[in-house]
Amino acid sequence: MAPVKVTKVLCIGAGYVGGPTCAVIALKCPHITVTIVDLNQARIDAWNSPDFKLPIYEPGLEDVVRQCRGRNLFFSTDVEKGIQEAELIFVSVNTPTKKSGVGAGFAADLNYVELATRQIAAVATTSKIVVEKSTVPCRTAESMRTILEANSKPGCHFDILSNPEFLAEGTAINDLFKPDRVLIGSLQTEEGKDACAALAAIYANWVPEAQILTVGLCAFSSVNALSAICEATGANIDEVAHAVGYDSRVGPKFLKASVGFGGSCFQKDILNLVYLSESLHLPEVAAYWRQVVEMNEYQKRRFSKRVVDTLFNTITGKRIAVLGFAFKADTGDTRESAAITLIRDFQSERAFVNIYDPQVVEEQIWLDLDEASPAVPLENIKKQVKICKSALEACRDAEAVVIATEWKEFKEIDWSEVYSTMKKPAFVFDGRLLVDAEKLREIGFRGHHHRPPCSLMKIR
Ligand SMILES: NC(=O)c1ccc[n+]([C@@H]2O[C@H](COP(=O)([O-])OP(=O)(O)OC[C@H]3O[C@@H](n4cnc5c(N)ncnc54)[C@H](O)[C@@H]3O)[C@@H](O)[C@H]2O)c1
Repeated sequence: MAPVKVTKVLCIGAGYVGGPTCAVIALKCPHITVTIVDLNQARIDAWNSPDFKLPIYEPGLEDVVRQCRGRNLFFSTDVEKGIQEAELIFVSVNTPTKKSGVGAGFAADLNYVELATRQIAAVATTSKIVVEKSTVPCRTAESMRTILEANSKPGCHFDILSNPEFLAEGTAINDLFKPDRVLIGSLQTEEGKDACAALAAIYANWVPEAQILTVGLCAFSSVNALSAICEATGANIDEVAHAVGYDSRVGPKFLKASVGFGGSCFQKDILNLVYLSESLHLPEVAAYWRQVVEMNEYQKRRFSKRVVDTLFNTITGKRIAVLGFAFKADTGDTRESAAITLIRDFQSERAFVNIYDPQVVEEQIWLDLDEASPAVPLENIKKQVKICKSALEACRDAEAVVIATEWKEFKEIDWSEVYSTMKKPAFVFDGRLLVDAEKLREIGFRGHHHRPPCSLMKIR
């Protein structure tokens, strides 16, 4: 089945999230009819007020509503009609802190989400994509699915998506116009992916595609794999731990020392986790995870500093060979690669850098280096940096070799030959703990006397 092209969107909940979010969708997608419903008559009346005295104030919101209301944006209390007509439904109801019962004062009250979900099931006569927009604990999508499936009419199929909102009040319109990213979680089934594509296509009307991140619903669960978050959301930590334990990378492979993260997604996923913690009102958890990202940055800085310190406190005018540019071996992917940061640091110390990577194309390297030093014109970068065709060529006349990616071929280099072409004393800094330090020492290399700087979390 091809992804549905959505033309009718409903939003249940005309609050701080549902109102601005869906008004912006109406503005950016004139071909889509957007209806926002709420049980609260006064709120809906205010959204419909002739003089635009809207129920919430956000800079820029009135202007958006003025442009779309009555054109392709409608506000109503007729929830049933809205459900029947829509192809895609955002559930954007409130999830306040529970006032009584289990988790009172801490846990989110999911009663409104459940009631809205039950109403969709009761009223819908055609298939729908249901998007969970409210900030809800992990596994809520699963509960919604169970409720919808148990109560649906024959022939009605429901796809559930998770699409958490990161807007901040006060800057909601701006945040919606230019989101850092849009996150969509879906089941990884054919239907799930189609539903995901349908929602992504809506955002793609104004959000660059690279910023629309689609992940499996279970990725959301993994992201939630923290006891504090589980406690706050009422999730079962044992189940989450079990799901995470299924990942073969968790274990020794996860704890390989390295210069910075060993996965291009780590940083973005942990940053998402920081956001999630913040939206769950867990500032300590957010700070903890932010620190993990900072620690990895620190590891890279520490590595560059070690190189400078070891080369007699200056690398100005010296040539440094950087072996590897990809973020890990066996890929040409350079996103978040440690090499980029290291080379930027060497450049700013006014060293000359020779780069060799077996897979990364030259164009990509220039692109990444250009982006890493926005204040330096690319011509200037090119005066300092040379891209080489082999490891041997990169190391010729260099005073130090930095191994930034654990390409197997770097292990198999004829290091004696490399040594003979380098300036002396010749140093090796193995950021991936790849080569046999003892063997290099015997050849005459320096740099392995101290334990090479290393860091956390590397996934192969
Ligand atoms: N406000 C923010 O900055 C922000 C940011 C990100 C995420 N969130 C999350 O988004 C969700 C919504 O937040 P909000 O600030 O818009 O809440 P809100 O209280 O302003 O709005 C929710 C609306 O849903 C309506 N509602 C509840 N049940 C309904 C039902 N069954 N049918 C129709 N309408 C119903 C309520 O009447 C209310 O107007 C929450 O989960 C919140 O945590 C909020």
